Amino acid sequence: MNNICIIGAGSSGVTVAKSLRDKGLTFDMFEKGSDIGGMWRYENDNGQSSCYASLHIDTSRPNLGYSDFPIDPSLPDFLSHAQFLRHLEAYADANHIRPLVTFNTEVTAVTPKGEGWEVTLSTGETRDYAQVIVANGHLSDPRTPEFAGQFDGPQTHSHHYRTAAPFEGQRVLVVGLGNSAVDIAVDLARRAAHVTVSTRRSAWIMPKYLMGVPIDQWSGFLVRRMKLPVTWARRVMARLIRLGQGDQRRFGLPRPAHPMWREHATLSQELLPYIGHGYIDVKPDVAELRGGKVAFTDDSEAPYDAIIYATGYNITFPFLNKDVFDPGEDAGNLYRRMVSPAHPGLIFAGLVQPVGPTIPLVETQGKWIASLLAGEVALPDRQGMLQEIAEHREKQRRTYLGTARYVLEVDYSHYTKQMKGDMARQA
Ligand SMILES: Cc1cc2nc3c(=O)[nH]c(=O)nc-3n(C[C@H](O)[C@H](O)[C@H](O)COP(=O)(O)OP(=O)(O)OC[C@H]3O[C@@H](n4cnc5c(N)ncnc54)[C@H](O)[C@@H]3O)c2cc1C
Ligand SMILES: NC(=O)c1ccc[n+]([C@@H]2O[C@H](COP(=O)([O-])OP(=O)(O)OC[C@H]3O[C@@H](n4cnc5c(N)ncnc54)[C@H](OP(=O)(O)O)[C@@H]3O)[C@@H](O)[C@H]2O)c1
Repeated sequence: MNNICIIGAGSSGVTVAKSLRDKGLTFDMFEKGSDIGGMWRYENDNGQSSCYASLHIDTSRPNLGYSDFPIDPSLPDFLSHAQFLRHLEAYADANHIRPLVTFNTEVTAVTPKGEGWEVTLSTGETRDYAQVIVANGHLSDPRTPEFAGQFDGPQTHSHHYRTAAPFEGQRVLVVGLGNSAVDIAVDLARRAAHVTVSTRRSAWIMPKYLMGVPIDQWSGFLVRRMKLPVTWARRVMARLIRLGQGDQRRFGLPRPAHPMWREHATLSQELLPYIGHGYIDVKPDVAELRGGKVAFTDDSEAPYDAIIYATGYNITFPFLNKDVFDPGEDAGNLYRRMVSPAHPGLIFAGLVQPVGPTIPLVETQGKWIASLLAGEVALPDRQGMLQEIAEHREKQRRTYLGTARYVLEVDYSHYTKQMKGDMARQA
């Protein structure tokens, strides 16, 4: 009998499994769908993928690969979802992960039992484990705003958006200005009659390339090569973006009231030029839905055929009772963003939203979890965990905007250093 259970075989579950295997740890791994890949498997039969046909990764290739499994350099700077899935499959197969996964099996309940956990499967079977690693993804339960009034046309969430085809010739309103919103607005632009993006606080739009170089490579160059302190590097980046792209207010996109580095980056090479070409226009927040029209907070009103809410996701764990783990309270209060202080046998992988790429960050989480379960990294006592969490939350509050969108926000470099520091110290 294995003592460890992993829930989910997306990119997070796969890399955690690989690290556990590297340490000689055995585990059971359950996946709701029929294959690995989670979010990156377009139209995944798990019914959970938020992937649209035009989705490309927004981290450039050299910064995306796994530490011992880099991405084929013949692939483009920014991989499509299909190219990333193939890379993940190759990584999983090179590490013999697929045969370790029980597919088409959903974990329906995880309940405390003695010192450990009872895990119930969709087959009706129950199994006991000392540790449960939750890697179920946090970007599949749509968060949809409720606006006053009523809209007569179809309304959907970006989670369900696949292609622009159903919106051919229509006037479409996209609500939100995160990465889903800008990708979808641009995807729609050439097929819809017109696209409006509505934003309540605007966002700093970053291009994917600056002077022909992917933007994440600029920040790496300034911090790692030029050894600039992060605050200086941020200032230089802001200046470079302004120089390369111009003032976004020219395109009717307000400059946010907060500094660039306080928000989760929104990247788009096309949004501003598409606004400049008249495909897309920008409106403030929605004030009211009025049948076939939408009114905005600047007192303007416009007719629309459809609305797409690209307004982010709720964090949900349908298999955990709220008394055991309440996502609203507990998801942002994990030791090292992974371990529940109330239930140290409950460990979360991928429950982060970095400034930087999630995929390689979760590789480091996987190594940390494997070190923990192999007894090479020790947890502090409960008080110590709560102290670390309080310090993290305080830093988070000082750094990012204090809204629901930032509960899982971490800084890639700082967080990686913390995890590597733990592993190095204890080794
Ligand atoms: C539109 C979009 C674009 C993104 N682009 C990027 C990007 O460019 N770069 C980046 O780093 N990150 C990006 N992300 C974030 C991305 O979600 C993460 O990078 C990462 O791939 C998530 O992997 P995961 O394994 O944690 O979750 P998922 O990919 O969601 O996988 C979770 C897996 O768990 C399974 N599962 C869930 N519940 C159960 C259960 N009860 N029982 C059994 N199995 C279960 C699911 O079937 C699924 O296979 C993007 C996210 C979205 C929504
Ligand atoms: N190409 C890519 O790599 C890519 C593509 C898509 C998504 N992603 C990633 O996937 C994750 C989810 O992205 P996402 O864009 O789906 O969600 P998100 O980052 O949470 O953005 C949600 C957007 O909706 C707005 N919003 C939320 N509630 C609202 C409300 N009630 N009224 C008006 N506006 C509201 C937010 O504005 P506020 O800022 O005002 O809250 C924000 O602009 C992110 O980590 C993102 O980077 C990556």
